Amino acid sequence: MSSELVWSKLQELLAEGLRSVGDATDENALVAVQKKYLGKKGSVQAYMQHMRELAPEDRPKLGALVNEVRDKLEAHFAAAEQALRDAKLKADLKLRRVDLSLPGRSRSRGSEHVLQATQREMENIFLQMGFEIARGPQSEWDFFNFEALNFPPDHPARDMQDTLMLENGSLLRTHTSPVQIRTMISYEPPIRIIAPGTVYRRDDDVTHSPVFHQIEGLHIEKGLNLTHLRGILELFAKSLFGEKTKIRLRPSFFPFTEPSVEVDIACIFCGQKGCRLCKQTGWIEILGAGMIDPNVLKSGHIDPEVWSGWAFGVGVERVAMLLHGISDIRLFFESDLRFLKQFN
Ligand code: PHE
Repeated sequence: MSSELVWSKLQELLAEGLRSVGDATDENALVAVQKKYLGKKGSVQAYMQHMRELAPEDRPKLGALVNEVRDKLEAHFAAAEQALRDAKLKADLKLRRVDLSLPGRSRSRGSEHVLQATQREMENIFLQMGFEIARGPQSEWDFFNFEALNFPPDHPARDMQDTLMLENGSLLRTHTSPVQIRTMISYEPPIRIIAPGTVYRRDDDVTHSPVFHQIEGLHIEKGLNLTHLRGILELFAKSLFGEKTKIRLRPSFFPFTEPSVEVDIACIFCGQKGCRLCKQTGWIEILGAGMIDPNVLKSGHIDPEVWSGWAFGVGVERVAMLLHGISDIRLFFESDLRFLKQFN
């Protein structure tokens, strides 16, 4: 074959190849065409056989020309392949009716409830002082809720803590103090624990909820007295309400502590000038506490001649109300996002 003939046949082959690519309507057809022209035994490569027939000076030209034809066809194949894929995707999208103009779905994030946050803050103060967290059941036996805590049967002190009795004879615990007994029975002193949890009482007004939360504190060691209790509670009050917070202890009564005290903080709202919130007294009650009654240590299998201890019980709702200036306890339980979002 003369070199002129080889050139023109190659041009023809290129034109034919391009046409075949154009005619391929799916990927399989395209692959077949590709194989026919560009495969190892394809018709473009076959032209290299004519090398021997050419004049030596024309031979490099043949190689270059074959490469050129191959490159052109390859580019064409790639473009055709992409076009087929695009068309397929387009058809697919049309079928699924994806509306790209729809606004995205936003994910709303949950957050900690203000009571949870307050409880955690209170817990952390005691955790930093080396107290551990203990827990007890919400359905509790009369023994742990009352009897072991020195409430005799039919004692009027029980009237202040009315609750629901369950069918199995247990009751919904009225305070976290039963965890004191459970801990004393299960662990050897010295004991330093706090016991956060849900408690129940027949109480319902703007500052009392039938379901509420307390944190119990219990410290048993040799030689403890009321000044240790006072020191810890003062640190607790300062950590929560600010370094300048003053506290005072007032005599009170609980069957399970002797002496018993009510702990007040100097009014954080009026600086003790007297306001509605401290009822013009300059003081706000925050918790009940006292030295553990020897009878209670005995119920917990601890020798009152060797060990002494103090305990306190503080309401989480009460602290949260003071910290955030909330006047109605029911707001905590209504799940109204307009209220809850303020604390995020
Ligand atoms: N359990 C008492 C209450 O709920 C509080 C308290 C706890 C008092 C520990 C003294 C010691 O009112």
